[in-house]
Amino acid sequence: MTPLVLVDDIVAEYHTARRTVRALDGASLSIERGEHIGIVGESGSGKTTLGLLLGRLLPAATRYPRGRVLVDGQAVLDLPADRIARLRRERLGFIPQDPVGALDPTLRIGRQLALALRGTGAATGRAGLLARLDQVQIHEPERVLRLYPHEISGGMAQRVTIAMAMARTPDLLIADEPTAALDAQVRQDILRLLFSLAAENGTTVLWLSHDLSGVARWCGRIAVMYGGRVVEDGPASDVLGEPRHPYTAALAAADPARAAPGERLRAIGGVPPALLGETRGCAFAPRCGAATDLCHDDQPATTREARRLVLCHHPVPRPAVPLPPQPMETPR
Ligand SMILES: Nc1ncnc2c1ncn2[C@@H]1O[C@H](COP(=O)(O)OP(=O)(O)O)[C@@H](O)[C@H]1O
Ligand SMILES: [Mg+2]
Repeated sequence: MTPLVLVDDIVAEYHTARRTVRALDGASLSIERGEHIGIVGESGSGKTTLGLLLGRLLPAATRYPRGRVLVDGQAVLDLPADRIARLRRERLGFIPQDPVGALDPTLRIGRQLALALRGTGAATGRAGLLARLDQVQIHEPERVLRLYPHEISGGMAQRVTIAMAMARTPDLLIADEPTAALDAQVRQDILRLLFSLAAENGTTVLWLSHDLSGVARWCGRIAVMYGGRVVEDGPASDVLGEPRHPYTAALAAADPARAAPGERLRAIGGVPPALLGETRGCAFAPRCGAATDLCHDDQPATTREARRLVLCHHPVPRPAVPLPPQPMETPR
């Protein structure tokens, strides 16, 4: 069967009057139907660009010097306008980082929800709207329908955007740091809701995040991005427990959630690159303790081992004693 998403060696460049930024630099990723996959990486690694690319939602001036993007077998970058609009409407759902900002400030929640439901076959009458809010566990739904976005909390607003995105039963839900604006308790509730609705509906989830262990709790698979490429990809517990790419290892070592009490976190020295055109070598080499001349000069090819892909000239050796698997949350 064709994968739901196939991104093959894509290069994406933002063109502005002053400079060109290469946000994706040969990124590849394939996602099967029903997978819950987390994309992690520091700010600037290209996560948002990759997510928007799947719906061809990048600025019109963006250029794609090479590579291809298929969603459900359709070449996203070549589709005529009506077909891409239909693909977005029928197949894709986006959950934004800032839910309050993503809602229309001039419309009551009920009205926005009704608009989102239009054309889906779902009931847009009062009872239908209440059922939608109930599905995302909003208390006092009658009251919430009458409120404006600024009158509800961030957590509540995110429940509303989830209801709107799920209304069309998308094949693929793209959630771009959906809990970044929320506090810790609400964050867990929202993630539980999102992943349980996805599991019920068989929705494939692409979760973009900088939180490695957070992603490992909810996603069976992790892809790590750096410098516009996917540098490691595999089962979440393997990637987190036994990182093979030095960048993944550095991310894991810098992760507060994984430190033993009293242990010092090792921050990753240096800053991620902003790529301004053709690149040479491995983008992580300037920050990598294991880098050799080869890494500075030649782009590493992908190495495949079992279910893992690693893009590195000198992968971290496997530990003699494998770590136990990481616990995962089960959406109810
Ligand atoms: N609209 C834009 N115009 C120019 N450069 C951009 C734009 N959006 C993102 N970039 C740049 O592209 C790179 C990747 O950004 P992004 O995809 O937002 O990464 P992430 O989501 O991982 O933080 C960064 O260097 C960023 O500054
Ligand atoms: Mg982003």
